[in-house]
Amino acid sequence: MFSDLLRDDIFRLETSRLWLRWPRMADVPSIVRYSGEKQIADMTASIPHPYSQTDAEKFVFACRAGNAVGAQIALALTRKGRPGEVIGMIGIHETRPGRAFLGYWLGSPFHGQGLMSEAAEALIGLAFQAGDIDVLTATALAENPGSRRVLEKCGFGNAEPARAEHRGAMADVVNFRLDRESWSARAAAAAHPPAPNTQTNAAA
Ligand SMILES: CC(C)(COP(=O)(O)OP(=O)(O)OC[C@H]1O[C@@H](n2cnc3c(N)ncnc32)[C@H](O)[C@@H]1OP(=O)(O)O)[C@@H](O)C(=O)NCCC(=O)NCCS
Repeated sequence: MFSDLLRDDIFRLETSRLWLRWPRMADVPSIVRYSGEKQIADMTASIPHPYSQTDAEKFVFACRAGNAVGAQIALALTRKGRPGEVIGMIGIHETRPGRAFLGYWLGSPFHGQGLMSEAAEALIGLAFQAGDIDVLTATALAENPGSRRVLEKCGFGNAEPARAEHRGAMADVVNFRLDRESWSARAAAAAHPPAPNTQTNAAA
């Protein structure tokens, strides 16, 4: 699904405030600290709670194994100037040929600064440019407006309310979708914004 470029752990993705890179075993303490919070785990489908060092080690191993075979791209978020401290994770994994699912979490001390939107925008762009993906999907709990907003800001649409299994119980969720055509149109519009209106009163 992803090109050879991404299958090596020297790969880095830069945004204005972040470096995104493969997670490594040295990140386990940061991952346990930030994704171990109940408020983070509860919003996700798969982070166990309580979250142990062994859970994090297995997670890092699985991320690296998946990245290496190109079935997914799972990257750790670090702030520029603090490359050793992982503050969140973001990943896109193949669900079936041409389709992939986006997921993420960010440590609570870093919420509300636009960091996940920045990371997601960059990874989504990479996925469409360096992956054979036609459609990206994502799901947020209805009670998670922050995540829904991240997706909307990154161009996801077709929001469909649904009921789905979440951490062993049924919950209200919203399913989102972003296809290659919509992403391309959005990327082109961002690259070539309309010229400012230079019409003068005299010409009006
Ligand atoms: C969801 C999450 C990744 C967002 O990270 P973040 O860096 O704070 O997100 P951003 O700052 O980029 O964007 C959040 C947006 O949601 C908005 N938002 C946050 N909480 C909100 C709320 N309660 N109601 C309405 N909007 C809210 C913010 O205002 C912002 O929108 P804006 O830029 O238009 O103002 C983070 O809260 C998180 O990790 N939560 C726990 C795990 C999780 O939910 N993972 C996703 C599972 S689907």
